[in-house]
Amino acid sequence: MFHILRQLDKNHKSSEKVRRDIRSYLPPCEDSCFASTGRSLVSLLIRRLGLTAEDTCLIPAYVPEGLIRPLRESGIQVQFYTVDDKLFANLDDLNRQIENDPSIRLLVLIHPFGFEQPVRPIKELLSERNIAILEDCAQSLFGTSIEGPPLGMGGDFSLFSLNKFLPVPDGAILQSNNPNMLITADDFVEGQTEQQASILAYEDHLHLNHELLQARTPDTAQGFLEKTGHAYERYYTFVNRDLRLFLPSLTTKKRLKQIDFNTFIAKRISNTRLLYAELKQTTFKFVYENWTENYIPMTVPVYVAPEHRDEIIAKLFSQNILLSTLIDKWNYIPPDREEIFQAEARFINSHLLLPINEFLSPSHMETIINALNKV
Ligand SMILES: Cc1ncc(COP(=O)(O)O)c(C=O)c1O
Repeated sequence: MFHILRQLDKNHKSSEKVRRDIRSYLPPCEDSCFASTGRSLVSLLIRRLGLTAEDTCLIPAYVPEGLIRPLRESGIQVQFYTVDDKLFANLDDLNRQIENDPSIRLLVLIHPFGFEQPVRPIKELLSERNIAILEDCAQSLFGTSIEGPPLGMGGDFSLFSLNKFLPVPDGAILQSNNPNMLITADDFVEGQTEQQASILAYEDHLHLNHELLQARTPDTAQGFLEKTGHAYERYYTFVNRDLRLFLPSLTTKKRLKQIDFNTFIAKRISNTRLLYAELKQTTFKFVYENWTENYIPMTVPVYVAPEHRDEIIAKLFSQNILLSTLIDKWNYIPPDREEIFQAEARFINSHLLLPINEFLSPSHMETIINALNKV
């Protein structure tokens, strides 16, 4: 990742190319707000919608802390809907839940890992019910719907979080598709020392990720893995604690002008294409069996037998290949209701995330895929 940062910093003065503004890649909308974090924008949305302790927001139980925390802190009721093995909402359950609970005012739909969750059938279910949809595109930047338009146009609002995808320390955009619900804000707080320190911590995290990628032995990799985890925690401790609106950092604004988004997208597409074409192992089962080029994955999730997951991770780590999971800060299944959230529990216990990042060259991808095929 750092490799990219250095390239960007080196190239940027001599580069003749005019880069497109990141917002030109997002869907057209009625109104938008560009801030430092997605979670502060979720808080803003609750304020703009005027929701109170009498109102309920529905979210999945496999959900990021960055979404559930601002909802809970805003004082509204938060309930979970169930999902299937693709992490898409179960329509029948959702329908029943909506019929039984007139306090529901907001529904959050995530496009997991960049794969499209169909919004239209859910919108039809909600019609005439005064329930707004927030399409969470934090993991689906640059994606377009199978129906054509960019992801983020199907609901009333959409949320994008840039550091989930791009080598930037912060930056998130909330959009409104509803002409009667504007979300522009002018109550931004001046970034003080602590906020600036959190941005530097995220920069450390990006740099350490690069060192991790370059590590030659599993021992050195382990050292970088721990350090990058600590840097990440320093950033998140601050952004979780302070949900006020800050402007995106100057570092992010500067770097966004240097990134060639078209090349970024093309590399992720070609790496994903290689993975889908060449992964022949039955040990790994794609969570999304079909991938088409309109989806730009954040990473590609697969199911493995849960009893073999740690062994597979260790085996690949010994070959300098890092397979990750997304569990920490994502498991909100109520402990006494695990039988209701079975698909969520299965995902948590048996997924692995395969890398397709833009900084992996085709030969790097071949090495990874060959190693996976030999498991
Ligand atoms: C799907 C999703 N939505 C929202 C958020 C919150 O965004 P941010 O980290 O910019 O606050 C996250 C962060 O992990 C996320 O993954």
